[in-house]
Amino acid sequence: MKVLVLNGPNLGRLDIRDSSIYGDMTYPVLVEHIENAAKTHGFEADVRQSNDEAEIIGWLHEAADTKTPVIINPAAFTHYSYAIRDAAELVKAPLIEVHLSNPLSREEFRHTSVISGVANGTIGGFGPNSYVLALIALKALIS
Ligand code: DQA
Repeated sequence: MKVLVLNGPNLGRLDIRDSSIYGDMTYPVLVEHIENAAKTHGFEADVRQSNDEAEIIGWLHEAADTKTPVIINPAAFTHYSYAIRDAAELVKAPLIEVHLSNPLSREEFRHTSVISGVANGTIGGFGPNSYVLALIALKALIS
C-alpha cells in the first residue's frame, strides 16, 4: 500500500539546521531511511518536501481524492497553518503528524499544533524514528 510522506518548510535543509535539535541526518538520507522502513512494514512511501504551503495543500487534496494514507511533518506550518489543517481534514484515510524534535520541549510557540486535532495521532521527539513509529502505527490502524 502507498503512503504519502509529506515534509514541510526547511526540512529539505537538515544539513544546515541545528544538529543538536534535528540530528545529523541529511534530508536525502532521511528519505532513504523512510523508504526502507516503509518497505519493511509493507508500504511504498512517496516522500515529498516543499517550502510552499499551496503545494502541500495540493498534495493533501491528492491524498483525499485517492484515499491514500498520509504521514506529515508540517514543520513550522504545524503551528499556524489553518489552510493545511483544513486540507488535512479532507483526508479520510489515516493521517499521522510527525516531528523530528519534541516541539513541546521547545519554545512556547511550538507548543501549539493546529494539525493535531485532525490527525489520528502525533509522534515527535524520536528523530528519524518518529517516521518509523508512524509507519508502525499506520500499519496497525489499517489492519
Ligand atoms: C519540526 C518542529 C517544528 O517546530 C519546526 O518548525 C520544524 C521541524 C520537527 O520535525 O521537529 O521545522 O516539525
